[in-house]
Amino acid sequence: MSSRTVIRGGLVVTASDEIHADVLIEDGRVAALAASGTPAAAAWTGDRVIDATGKYVIPGGVDVHTHMELPFGGTFASDTFETGTRAAAWGGTTTIVDFAVQGVGRSLREGLDAWHAKAEGNCAIDYGFHMIVSDVNQETLKEMDLLVEEGVTSFKQFMAYPGVFYSDDGQILRAMQRSAENGGLIMMHAENGIAIDVLVEQALARGETDPRHHGEVRKALLEAEATHRAIRLAQVAGAPLYVVHVSAMESVAELARARDEGLNVFGETCPQYLFLSTDNLAEPDFEGAKYVCSTPLRPREHQARLWRGLRTNDLQVVSTDHCPFCFVGQKELGRGDFSKIPNGLPGVENRMDLLHQAVVDGHISRRRWIEIACATPARMFGLYPKKGTLAPGADADVVIYDPHAEQVLSAETHHMNVDYSAYEGRRVTGRVESVLSRGELVIDQREYTGRAGHGAYTPRSTCQYLT
Ligand code: URP
Ligand code: ZN
Ligand code: ZN
Ligand code: ZN
Repeated sequence: MSSRTVIRGGLVVTASDEIHADVLIEDGRVAALAASGTPAAAAWTGDRVIDATGKYVIPGGVDVHTHMELPFGGTFASDTFETGTRAAAWGGTTTIVDFAVQGVGRSLREGLDAWHAKAEGNCAIDYGFHMIVSDVNQETLKEMDLLVEEGVTSFKQFMAYPGVFYSDDGQILRAMQRSAENGGLIMMHAENGIAIDVLVEQALARGETDPRHHGEVRKALLEAEATHRAIRLAQVAGAPLYVVHVSAMESVAELARARDEGLNVFGETCPQYLFLSTDNLAEPDFEGAKYVCSTPLRPREHQARLWRGLRTNDLQVVSTDHCPFCFVGQKELGRGDFSKIPNGLPGVENRMDLLHQAVVDGHISRRRWIEIACATPARMFGLYPKKGTLAPGADADVVIYDPHAEQVLSAETHHMNVDYSAYEGRRVTGRVESVLSRGELVIDQREYTGRAGHGAYTPRSTCQYLT
């Protein structure tokens, strides 16, 4: 069925432009933009006209790091694809790229099929997959080529979590060499997990069992060391590298140095590292468990280096690493032993707002907001310009954003399936008003109008950020 929507009078903000323009949407795609008030724009008619006067009209957010239903730490991340993608829509995100997991001793294909089965028919917004490679061998290396061909073009490896997802340097080098040939992008969890496990054991032996010790044993230096090692392995392999969830200022320095050398290395950070700190991990009565994730939250002084990295493009992407575990019954598994607290924070609903607050606070510009949250993640992971911008031919994934609305973030009002908010009580300026996904309203003036199954699997091309 053909349909036309016109969005009138808003300030269209993309990574490259800010223009007062009307947007014409036809059959789920952006058909045209024209300066508001011009005869060309005035002539457009639509089945639906959305008045965006005084609002921003922005591309839907692209969150390239989520873990819906992830089996981890003896339990499962508490958002399903249904609840998690609905919460994402509420927060102005219209595409996620989640991580399918290869079980040890299993094929990539089996893991990918299992994740397709979890997501299919359940998502409110579009989704793609990366593949977590936990077992590099001759078979899985061959499978990587096949996955790239079918649109799973990025692979996460772990220098942490020995016995779970861990790869040694040889396995990492082999996967990087393969990706240098097939165009895949290696995403690295850069922490020296072998050394960290020794420090965990020693801390527990000293009776240091509280959540704050999670931050103490997962040292910034061991993040930076692993980041450095990953960069050099990628350099030897001639492969590009994307380092996920960067939290330490020393790691940003490693990335900056490598980029100054001309290497194709990229970095992602997450809102929790920009807005939260070890102060949260030290909250009494086990409340600190709410903030246990890896890489861990750092002392406050790291934040300025992350913001600077985002401004200087030594960090290119902010995604959430959304991996929620309820406080009751899940985070509580680690009472008396911080190493048993499931690692991960909720945040898929909060990213666009927190980064808008960063615009309000003067950390980044409005266009940089869209660049790090929409355009660059789409480019980096082969979704651009279908996703990440508003241009003729792009999917009509559009957010009408009210930059003046005030809100207080809280578990009482959020839509993520988790019993706490990492940002409880935080005031932010700006709020999502309406959201379109491929031209369909999924949030209509603060009402959910989407449905499970609207979201479609989106195969991806290889990284478009290198050229
Ligand atoms: O603590 C985290 N980040 N949990 C999710 C898994 C990962 O390492 O990204
Ligand atoms: Zn204006
Ligand atoms: Zn990770
Ligand atoms: Zn993650």
